[in-house]
Amino acid sequence: MQVKKQSGAVGAEISGIDLRDVSDGLTQELRGQLAEHGVLFFRDQTLDTDQHKMLARKFGEIFIHPNFNTGDHDPEVVTITRAPGDTRIVGEEWHTDTTMMAEPPMGALLYAIEAPSVGGDTLFASQWKAYDALSDGMKDMLASLECVHSDRKVAGPSNALNAKRATVVREDADWKPTENAHPVIRIHPESGRKCLFVNASYSICFEGWTEAESKPLLDWLLEWGHRPEFTCRFRWTPGTMAFWDNRSTKHLAIHDAGPERRVMRRIQIAGGPVV
Ligand code: SIN
Repeated sequence: MQVKKQSGAVGAEISGIDLRDVSDGLTQELRGQLAEHGVLFFRDQTLDTDQHKMLARKFGEIFIHPNFNTGDHDPEVVTITRAPGDTRIVGEEWHTDTTMMAEPPMGALLYAIEAPSVGGDTLFASQWKAYDALSDGMKDMLASLECVHSDRKVAGPSNALNAKRATVVREDADWKPTENAHPVIRIHPESGRKCLFVNASYSICFEGWTEAESKPLLDWLLEWGHRPEFTCRFRWTPGTMAFWDNRSTKHLAIHDAGPERRVMRRIQIAGGPVV
């Protein structure tokens, strides 16, 4: 197995392994690499849906996404399609996945089925690097804060996203937002590193603060968390798998594929409480 860092801060490309054949020993090795690098990239892989699920289960239970689970497909799999002409795409804001849940997923395995010839890259940002670079004063202030996370901006009828993009979410009248509060600084359960844990898609306000009171500090933290020195950028080719650590990173899908299609298969892995 060869490991090549993707940037100074986050991400590593792993070569020399076949993801259809991951032993228990290699699973442990990959867990360690994930905790170290935040996101791993594997090119030239060939996995069907069952093999993709089998890989995910080596790292935990498969997480069923409540908003993409529209009842018309396998609930364990989300196919993220960007069709030519889409005016919105999934994941176009800096985010950590599904943080409105009481126990957000620990990670996701995203596999490129169709990649554009140019465009459609994904950016990642290390949230432990972002935390480490804060001043001691800011770290002290954030230590006792919790943030309320909600999916009200990314699903439900009022956003009307399904008219603008090929990948659909629940927009039925019965949909209700899910909200949970999490510490602003979480401790990664494997590396022990402290990570900033707020994101633009889901973080609404600090617990006990109004949205207006929260906005200046929250906006500053959201921008800080993806300063260029904490990031990497990944260009997809068909057959590439990315495996990101949803506890220590955030990411953003770039909406610049022009007339081209992009089709990804995503399986998320269940996580535990945020502490
Ligand atoms: C996501 O946010 O899970 C999707 C990222 C991507 O499509 O690059």
